[in-house]
Amino acid sequence: TQPLRIAIAGLGTVGTGIVRMVQTHGDKMLARSGREIRIVAVSARSRGKDRGVKLDAFAWEDDPVALARRDDVDLIVEVMGGEDGPAKVLTETALAAGKHVVTANKAMMARHGQALAELAEANDAALRYEAAVAGGIPIMKALTEGLAGNGIERVMGVMNGTCNYILTQMEETGADYEDVLAAAQQLGYAEADPAFDVGGIDAAHKLALLAATAFGTRVDFDGVTIEGIEHISLTDITQARELGYKVKLLGVARMSDEGLEQRMQPVLVPARSSIGQLEGVTNLVVVEGDFVGRTVFTGPGAGEGPTASAIMGDVMDIARGLRIPAFGQPAHSLSAANRAASAGA
Ligand code: NAP
Ligand code: HSE
Repeated sequence: TQPLRIAIAGLGTVGTGIVRMVQTHGDKMLARSGREIRIVAVSARSRGKDRGVKLDAFAWEDDPVALARRDDVDLIVEVMGGEDGPAKVLTETALAAGKHVVTANKAMMARHGQALAELAEANDAALRYEAAVAGGIPIMKALTEGLAGNGIERVMGVMNGTCNYILTQMEETGADYEDVLAAAQQLGYAEADPAFDVGGIDAAHKLALLAATAFGTRVDFDGVTIEGIEHISLTDITQARELGYKVKLLGVARMSDEGLEQRMQPVLVPARSSIGQLEGVTNLVVVEGDFVGRTVFTGPGAGEGPTASAIMGDVMDIARGLRIPAFGQPAHSLSAANRAASAGA
């Protein structure tokens, strides 16, 4: 079998994690997928930067879009970030050329995922983004595979590791908001612009992707009601604790007769509940299905290792030849009317 030849665009927290994971577990990946996964080329902004991983065996491209034009590349891993700009051009160029794309970029997918999924299908390419939603938790795989036979009634969860880290660190140490945010950035949890994290936008991107996949609707990021944690004070957190509650940035999406409702906002939850007990960067996603009932998924929501893990799960699925549409069903069939139609209305 020919190796699956991959190129990595972006060598920051996530990109270097992917290099490290392939270098550590390449043999396991071959054994489990039946195909060697070989990194052939990489790109980032500054070539000379010491990134703590060995890169000399890989070709270097100054322009990330050039990765998609290489004949020796089958799959692009996009981990640069940014809603538009080079990440989107690279993804479009790769898919148009029939190359597979695995991305961690929730901002791009929440805005352009629908069009990108259609482009992927038109060119018989795979587009996967497990790492974009809830970090290391394989929640997109759960929705598009294990739970795919269910009618989904509600999805909800804590899906921004930075916010949960800030809220729990403030509570446990009494530390200042700005200091804890700086620590989250240092740990590689935060977005390039951390306003996306604390403003609830990053978590809203994830909720929009989760909801589209769960309910078979078009991605509707503009339809998410968003409130961040910027105005939550230490006093709010300690008063909540005295009453037996925790403050959590919680997203909820449900389908009603009025259509899809999506909300991302700080809420009070009982301290002893599974959501109330979430510590640090941990995420939690609840999926309620009509046949399965209530399922709960939890795990690390950000950082180098968990995000690389999610990326490589997608890459290995593609190596195995699995072709699951980006939203679990063909992109052209996603519509707000699907749920009613499938219910026979
Ligand atoms: P990061 O540490 O800031 O790394 C970004 C990388 O992309 C850097 O290597 C940078 O190059 C490169 N880059 C940025 N713009 C570029 C351009 N125009 N041309 C070429 N290279 C460019 O970011 P990250 O934390 O790894 O996140 C990457 C993506 O993964 C984002 O979409 C993010 O939302 C997503 N994600 C991150 C996490 C996490 O925990 N960090 C989790 C899930 C998803 P230089 O290094 O040379 O500056
Ligand atoms: N900034 C994001 C977070 C990264 O803190 O959850 C993972 O998507």
